Amino acid sequence: MRRKGPATHQLDPIETASRDEIAALQLARLKWSLRHAYDNVRHYRRAFEHAAVHPDDLKTLDDLAKFPFTTKEDLRANYPFRLFAVPRDEVVRVHASSGTTGQPTVVGYTRRDIDTWADLMARCIRAAGGRKGDIVHVAYGYGLFTGGLGAHYGAERLGCVVVPVSGGQTARQVQLICDFRPDIIMVTPSYMLVIADEFERQGLNPRETSLCVGLHGAEPWTNAMRREIEQRFDMDALDLYGLSEIIGPGVASECIETKDGLHLWEDHFYPEIIDPATGTPLADGEIGELVLTSLTKEALPMIRYRTRDLTRLLPGTARSMRRMEKVTGRTDDMLIIRGVNVFPSQIEELILKDKHLSPHYLLEVYRLDHLDQLDVIVEPRGDVGPYDEATQRACASNLAHAVKSYLGISVNVRMVNLGEIERSMGKAKRIIDMRPNV
Ligand code: DLL
Repeated sequence: MRRKGPATHQLDPIETASRDEIAALQLARLKWSLRHAYDNVRHYRRAFEHAAVHPDDLKTLDDLAKFPFTTKEDLRANYPFRLFAVPRDEVVRVHASSGTTGQPTVVGYTRRDIDTWADLMARCIRAAGGRKGDIVHVAYGYGLFTGGLGAHYGAERLGCVVVPVSGGQTARQVQLICDFRPDIIMVTPSYMLVIADEFERQGLNPRETSLCVGLHGAEPWTNAMRREIEQRFDMDALDLYGLSEIIGPGVASECIETKDGLHLWEDHFYPEIIDPATGTPLADGEIGELVLTSLTKEALPMIRYRTRDLTRLLPGTARSMRRMEKVTGRTDDMLIIRGVNVFPSQIEELILKDKHLSPHYLLEVYRLDHLDQLDVIVEPRGDVGPYDEATQRACASNLAHAVKSYLGISVNVRMVNLGEIERSMGKAKRIIDMRPNV
């Protein structure tokens, strides 16, 4: 059964407020947030002073552009707790994201922050068509990662029955989905496909489960991947965005009635898009790096945080708050292969266009005779493979040809056996970069 969106009277009033009302609330909250950061965090006081700005300089929302950015490096330099803006006895929780290099990024929450987060995640699940009494299977990882507990608190807040499975033990995921008959699943898109494969391995048809809706995020995924999930499970697959530094999942999410990008919960997070090279703010509609400022966060206020995620802002549709387009990639995921910018998502779309190929893939980058080389490693689809050698060669050459004509680069496509590419239980690792000094 396909779900409908909630009725207007079930929404938070701010979800349908006028743009003027939203802007007025944002300005008041932004003033508070800048002041809170400046008064209570040495890093912010110094950064503002260095940029010769003061919280009182913010008279309009556009004045925010005068304030300095915050980056992941700032979090690292203040590891673990030095960006916290409240005394230790007001912090009730920490989370951390592992990151690719060394030190984790540590984030903290007050009781009220946890409450806000639960409210926003409840808003996301409701936007996805969820309602009180629904059974919600949470297969995001629990622990320091924000996915599991973020989804969990939001589903409880909405009045759902939460099944806190966490990631991994895929056979058991299948059993619990069959036995408990959940309405909603919350899991990374890549792991959703691993679960689909496991259904098929057990001879079960994933289209016959009770699932109506999936809320997928924590990693970039394409609309081609969305169609794949929807087709295999006969359900709606919606996008859910967030990052630990800002709160966790629940910063923005798609509405089931429109499925046209993610409504960004602007009453708690103020978005800007900047040119990642120069830092200049860009107009709505232009693609660039998303920068977020927290408006209500107590324990860890974030001022102009550079997310490194590439997207653009679009006007609201199902809600009055603006939408962000599906994130196409991260500035640090962009591969530059012989001068051409390549995002894994572009390759993913091409792989998914070929019905012989499975959506599990890996990109290997290395240097040969001073030139960057890109190998695309793919598997045959479980329902049609394995193929004989000639078919494999044809598949590989078709994909190489498609990459050449769409992206303009020559790649080496390697077909491997079904199941050979390591499956992730959370965020999929798509790139192995073996170039020296990258
Ligand atoms: O991944 C929070 C989350 C959990 C979001 C569950 C959605 C669902 P981090 O581990 O800090 O937090 O990673 C944040 O993941 O900056 C993006 O690069 C990426 N990301 C998150 N959601 C999406 C999405 C969580 N829907 C980083 N589409 C972000 C694309 C996403 N990328």
